[in-house]
Amino acid sequence: MTASYAAPVHRWYSTHARDLPWRRPDATPWSILVSEVMLQQTPVSRVLPAHAAWLQRWPDARSLAAASAADAVRQWDRLGYPRRAVRLHASAGLITTRYAGEVPASADELRSLPGVGAYTAAAVSSFAFGARHAVLDTNVRRVLARLVTGVARPAPAPTAAERALTERLLPADGRLAAQWSVGIMELGALVCTATRPRCGHCPLAGECAWMRHGCPAPEYRRAAPGYHGSDRQCRGRLLAVLREASGPVPAEILKTAWPDAAQRSRALAGLIDDGLVARGADGLYGLPGDPARSG
Ligand code: ADE
Repeated sequence: MTASYAAPVHRWYSTHARDLPWRRPDATPWSILVSEVMLQQTPVSRVLPAHAAWLQRWPDARSLAAASAADAVRQWDRLGYPRRAVRLHASAGLITTRYAGEVPASADELRSLPGVGAYTAAAVSSFAFGARHAVLDTNVRRVLARLVTGVARPAPAPTAAERALTERLLPADGRLAAQWSVGIMELGALVCTATRPRCGHCPLAGECAWMRHGCPAPEYRRAAPGYHGSDRQCRGRLLAVLREASGPVPAEILKTAWPDAAQRSRALAGLIDDGLVARGADGLYGLPGDPARSG
């Protein structure tokens, strides 16, 4: 049986962790679900104000379900990867009709919601309901890769061996398992960081296989895809025009957002495919379900 590192992680967490609203004891499952969706691809510092504004406007799934997808996309504003807003809106609809407005507790039910993958389902089921699940985000994976396996970085995607290792380390009790996961996650975010680990501040330094091996450098380096000039930037520009317009706009207006016609039409087709933009019979482009469009 491998040691679970639970006691030192818990001690460290109770004095060093950030006070984040979705971690507070009174955080609702809805608040936790919204936070996990936002945190999928956006850093905590940018999620904090967006999460507060979202919860202020839509304190539960029912209230978001009663709004339009266009409102959700507008409120998402510049958090990035705005498909998440459309999916969260669709999830709110399903939570309302299928689960009487209450976020479901089981990871399987959570996974049936749009935009909720294995990681998010495990995180919400664990953090909101105390179910025992391995919550393998990038921070947890990096800490365990160093601590137990002795390598600087985990494999590009979670492996069966990693899952088995995490299962073995996870405390048996669901609430303790949730505490353990958030503790390891926070250690990865604040101490065992990707590029500048602060090993002198680590509560697990004495047990770390990576430190024992002399902190070997990673074997590969992942190149971050460029943003400038990318289809993603083009999509962001087009969506910004539609978010800020008072209603649907003609294609001419979109030309002002991005000069390259081929890239613009590819990005626009992608946005329509993803349900982020709708083209009306009048040929105008707008946000989906926008009252200005249908009304
Ligand atoms: N606390 C709970 N879930 C989290 C996450 N995904 N990122 C950062 N802090 C968290």
